[in-house]
Formats: sequence, structure tokens, C-alpha cells
Amino acid sequence: RLGRPLVVAIDGPSGSGKSSVSKEVARRLSLAYLDTGAMYRALTWYCLDRGTDLADASAVELAAEELPLDISTSPHAEYVRVDGTDVTDAIREPAISSAVSAVATTLGARTELIRRQRALIEKHNRRMVVEGRDITTVVAPAAQVRMLLTASEEARLRRRGIQLGGTQSAEQLAAQVTQRDAKDSTVVNFTQAADGVVTLDSSELDFEETVSAALRIVTKVINHE
Ligand code: DC
Repeated sequence: RLGRPLVVAIDGPSGSGKSSVSKEVARRLSLAYLDTGAMYRALTWYCLDRGTDLADASAVELAAEELPLDISTSPHAEYVRVDGTDVTDAIREPAISSAVSAVATTLGARTELIRRQRALIEKHNRRMVVEGRDITTVVAPAAQVRMLLTASEEARLRRRGIQLGGTQSAEQLAAQVTQRDAKDSTVVNFTQAADGVVTLDSSELDFEETVSAALRIVTKVINHE
């Protein structure tokens, strides 16, 4: 089976544990890995750095086309660089998190990032775990494995709290997560599984259990091919 195409598309909301689970699945299967959310974040960083007006759709689209992006496609090394500047940590800052929806809802910018995502999948001979919001539906609808990783709002807030170091109040966290999901879902519907997409609910699972469940879904598909 080595060398055969194996695209594992994983969508889901923030706080579903999507990134860490996807990365671990890629490691275990020796596949490349792409965090498409990081691309939207990198574009947001670039726009803010250049003073691009996020409300100006054509300016944001142009920025997407020009974006000098270098993003890791290895599940063993996480880095994102924009024009040589390491922005791996900077794109996780609250300033980016609150601005990213404005960029992600700009259709022209999405078109460009989707084009780049598809090119990266091709570059890796279609052997890649790709995670985001529209991977199962738009970026790679022909992926061998398509999964929607969900978690109850309660579980997601709990995980976000842990991620942020527990310094924010419960209300702040709840507002952040739900507001961002509401904004995000205006462009892509990632809350419901599309036809042929397997839902994996991780609410009651820990990290290892979620990874095992995801790997079982992949194995099942491969064995049926
Ligand atoms: O997964 P994340 O929090 O890093 O995503 C950052 C933002 O990008 C979020 O607002 C959703 C958006 N996004 C998207 O619209 N499409 C994707 N494929 C991935 C992320």
C-alpha cells in the first residue's frame, strides 16, 4: 500500500482537538500533515503587518495571492514563516484569533488558499492528513478518508481553557469560542457531516482514545478499498 494515495481530510470546530489528533494520525501513518487554519492565520498576520484593511475584500484577496508563505508539511516539525519571518507563535496570539474570521470569510482569499492547499496535497503525492473546516467538502472531497471531528461545547470550552493556560474567565472563553464558530460557519458549514463523511465525537474520549478511533476509521476505509 506504500505510495498509494491516502488523503485523510479532517474537519471540525475549534477546540475539538483537531490539530493535535490530526498531527498524531499523520505521524502514526507516516503521512505529511497540513494545518489549513494556520494558513488563514498566516494570511491574517500578513494583512495586519502590512496594514491591509480587512474589510477591503480585493485588498485581502491580493494579499492572499502575494503571501510569501512557507508552512511545514511535516507532523514532526511545526513552523510557519511569512517572508522569512517565523510567525509560528505570533499567529496563535489573540489579536490574530479575533481578526482571522474577517480574512476567512473573504471568498477571493479562500479561493487562493484552497488552490495552494490542493497544490501541497499534490506535491506530497496525495499522502497527507489535511485538517480545517472545508477539507472534506471543498478542498479534498475525493479524499480516501473524510472525517468530522466534533466535541460538545462543554468539552471544547474545557480544552480551550487548558490550552490558554486557564487564565481567562469561563464567560470570556465561552464567548470567544462560540462567537468565532458563529462567524466561521457563515462561509463553511463544518458543524454537520456532509454525505460520506464519518463523524467522530470526542466529547467523552481522551487524546489517545480519539487518535485510536481516528486510526480505526482510516484502517476500515483502507481495508475496503
Ligand atoms: O483551526 P483554526 O482555529 O486555526 O482556524 C483559524 C481560522 O481559519 C478560523 O476562523 C476558521 C478558519 N478556517 C477556515 O475558514 N477554513 C479552513 N480550512 C481552516 C480554517
